[in-house]
Amino acid sequence: MSITKKLFGTMPNGKEVYCYTLSCDCGISAEIIDYGATLRSLFVPNKNGSLTDVVLGYDTLEEYINNDGYIGATVGRFANRICKGKFTLNGVDYTLATNDGPNHLHGGNEGYDKRVWEAKEEDGALAFYLTSPDGDEGYPGTLEIKVTYALENGGLAISYEAVSDKDTIFNPTNHAYFNLNGEGLVNDHYLLINADEFTPNDLDCLPTGEVLSVKGTCMDFTEYHKIGERADCDDAFVKPYTGYDHNFIFNGKTPACATYAEESGILMTVETTEPGIQLYSGNCTSDRIGKNGAKYGRRSAFCLETQHFPDCINHPEWPSCVLKAGDKFQSKTVYKFALKD
Ligand code: BGC
Repeated sequence: MSITKKLFGTMPNGKEVYCYTLSCDCGISAEIIDYGATLRSLFVPNKNGSLTDVVLGYDTLEEYINNDGYIGATVGRFANRICKGKFTLNGVDYTLATNDGPNHLHGGNEGYDKRVWEAKEEDGALAFYLTSPDGDEGYPGTLEIKVTYALENGGLAISYEAVSDKDTIFNPTNHAYFNLNGEGLVNDHYLLINADEFTPNDLDCLPTGEVLSVKGTCMDFTEYHKIGERADCDDAFVKPYTGYDHNFIFNGKTPACATYAEESGILMTVETTEPGIQLYSGNCTSDRIGKNGAKYGRRSAFCLETQHFPDCINHPEWPSCVLKAGDKFQSKTVYKFALKD
């Protein structure tokens, strides 16, 4: 694997932001910027013998700073929502920044997607370091975080490690927007999620606390379905959100998730150590211009955010996002690519 680096832009405070290119003889290459430790492009071989860039991104740093949607970013300290930004840990009540109506979303007003991380090349992989101070957006404990991007076995692996000096919560994810055709809408993408259950939402997109079977609902992706065939379905679970914005609970089968597009022939599988995934079908992506003048909008792409369940700190019966002082947090998600048979 080789890594090259070029200047991408300059922050308002004068700090330089770089774009790193990872390439390998597997035919895949990735660009990552240190602003938000953000995946900017991911070039994958398609069935026509050329390469397709399968993620959305921007040409300039200004667009990353000014646009919403967390496009390609590393999200934390807690990806997804926390009800009213409130939780209790070791008997102490914490109040986080609220940036999604009354609730906390994706780390708050200035989440990790808006920080410039420190990049280091390590063993052929690209590591990004960030120190998140005690009290950052309301979270307890100074958290030392490392996110590593590596090209391995025909795929892109993203690994997360962290240590805190106080008990805290941690639930990072990557917010890449995928389009396996590189353009157009994703309605024709086939999707499979090995999840027999999901956590339904209330109208604020917070979990109600129930765990329901996907059977007989538009949440059933245990066999391949086209995203567009179901995202507009009348199902009470899907309709209020004008598409998917839901957490699925993996059933342990592999791959955890898979998607393909007939036009490019690209098949992507997702394997992860995380217990769940937020499927977000780009319902709120407003019209905008992306890389090389590409037009992005609603359903231009979809996100597969591997994670612990939304608001899990307030649902103790679910897998815990608590990171004890001094313990090492580790998690890994691999996006693998092949051509569909
Ligand atoms: C959330 C959506 C949100 C989107 C972009 C997703 O992870 O679940 O509700 O609109 O991110 O901010």
